[in-house]
Formats: sequence, structure tokens, C-alpha cells
Amino acid sequence: MDAGRDVQPGLGELFTEERSAEVVCASLAAAPDARVRQVLESLVRHLHSFVKDVELTEREWQQAIAFLTDTGHKCDDTRQEFILLSDVLGVSMLVETINHRAAGQATESTVTGPFHVVESPPRELGADISLPGSGEPCLVTGRVVGPDGEPVAGAVVDVWHADAEGFYDVQQPDPAAVGSLRGLFTADDEGRFWFRTIVPRYYPIPVDGPVGRLLEAMARHPYRPAHIHFIVKARGFATLTTHLFVDDSPYLDSDAVFGVKQSLVRTFPAVDDPDRARDLGLPNPFRSVDFEISLQPAGGDGGSAGTTPTGT
Ligand code: BEZ
Ligand code: FE
Repeated sequence: MDAGRDVQPGLGELFTEERSAEVVCASLAAAPDARVRQVLESLVRHLHSFVKDVELTEREWQQAIAFLTDTGHKCDDTRQEFILLSDVLGVSMLVETINHRAAGQATESTVTGPFHVVESPPRELGADISLPGSGEPCLVTGRVVGPDGEPVAGAVVDVWHADAEGFYDVQQPDPAAVGSLRGLFTADDEGRFWFRTIVPRYYPIPVDGPVGRLLEAMARHPYRPAHIHFIVKARGFATLTTHLFVDDSPYLDSDAVFGVKQSLVRTFPAVDDPDRARDLGLPNPFRSVDFEISLQPAGGDGGSAGTTPTGT
């Protein structure tokens, strides 16, 4: 007699199509960390339900494994294809939004993106961070305030953006360009900061990898609307990672990574004032924008609370 075919006492629940998720979740029961258990159980339930929903074929399963393998192979010290995948699927923005719910007047957050790869050079207030060459000159002014509008003196404002052709410094052919279009500013006693630069252009996210192929399969374009990145840190406040979007840029309503929030879009009006331009050291006319940044108190922001201005 074939004993293996008998129903054996003590075998517990065996895997079936109907009970697949329950059986795998039961196998997690001994995981000592309650949060690990919660996250994995939910992941298993959603994954199994997805596979059943689309009736995934073996060929599709193999394609998915090959896609994820390619995604891993595309990663190195400066390229993070998994984050890019999370970006184009809207997961980065969802995690960001859940973990940084802006209360009251607080400035909303958005994604960091892959171009904060070098330290921004410390700069004097008013410094010109642009690369020599093309682009509409622009004065950026702003103030960092707390929840009651009080100035946050000494807030550290880290800024980076693309040039007038849509390239970051690290994408320029000349390695000497690295550090341009970036700056680490310390707000004055009234929480004010200002610097000179050029109006950035929209640009495509990197498409020379599996995420580019995925966008093609979805018939989606790879562009992000023109923006300036900010990370603002101050003792006692939650660190804010955000953008300032240029209101006349294309793609504001179809950002490839879903990063646009209406409250972050600003006009960059042209200023025609030769005396002011001369005082500022800018050509006339120039564009300008003002960004009031309202921070939330530290605590309850999903992990960045309590960081010092230097991020330690
Ligand atoms: C960026 O804004 O730098 C960016 C964000 C997400 C993906 C690619 C680029
Ligand atoms: Fe960017």
C-alpha cells in the first residue's frame, strides 16, 4: 500500500488554490516581530489575490522574474532602478504622502528623486548657482516659517534643479559642472533665503533600463514638469522634502512619477526693472519666484523628525 497517499494525521492544512493565502500566512505565525508578520501577511494576501485576479500564466510569471532581475542588474552606486520602478507606479509618492501628511498650512512634501547624489555645496545667501550659458535668469526668494508663521532662523535649505535643457549637473559632459545648480543655504534671522539661478526645464526620467521599457508598454511618456528640489531642515521641526513647480511647464498634469501637488505650483513672473536687476547682479529682465516654506513640529512625520540641521 502507498502510505504517502493516505491522509496523514498532523499534516495540517495543505496548499490548495482556494486556501493558498491562508496556508502561506499560517507559515508566518512564528515570526517573532509583529510588524514583520503584519506586513508579510498583507503582502502574501494581496499577491495571491493579484495572481488569482489576472490568472497569471507561467510565461507571464517568467517575464516578471526576468523584469525584476533586469531591474536589479541596472542598479549600481548611482542608479536605483527599483526606486524608479516604485516612482512610475506611484508607490514612492504614496509612501511619501502617507508618512508626511501636511497639517494646516504646512508645506506639502513630494519625492526626493535620484539626483540628490552629491552633497550640495554650502553657499552664501544671494549666490548664483547657475551654470554659465543658456537659461532665463531667475531670482528665487523664500522664507522658512513654523506652524504659527514664526520665522525659523538658521533653517538649512538644500536646493538642486535641472538646467534650461533639462539636465542636472551630474549629467553634464564636463565633470567640473558637478555642484552647479545646487546649493546649501542657511536662512537668516527672519528665516529668509534667496539665490540666483535660471528657470529649469522639464526633463525625462532615465529610460535606458527596464523601467523605460515598462513606460513604453504602458504608452506613457517619461517626462517630469519643470521643478526645483528642496530639502529643508531645522532643529525641532520635521525635515521637509519638496519641490517648487514652474506653472507654465508642460507635463504638470501628467508627471511620470505623480509628484505634482497643486499647492507646490508657483508662477515665475518676469520682472523688467533695470535698477533692481543691476543691484541683484542679474540681467534685465529676469524671472522671479517666492516660496514660503512652512514646517511642522518634529514628531509623527514617519521618521525624519528630530534630525538636526546637519541631518545627524
Ligand atoms: C527628480 O525629480 O529628480 C526625479 C524624481 C523621480 C524619478 C526621476 C527623477
Ligand atoms: Fe528633479
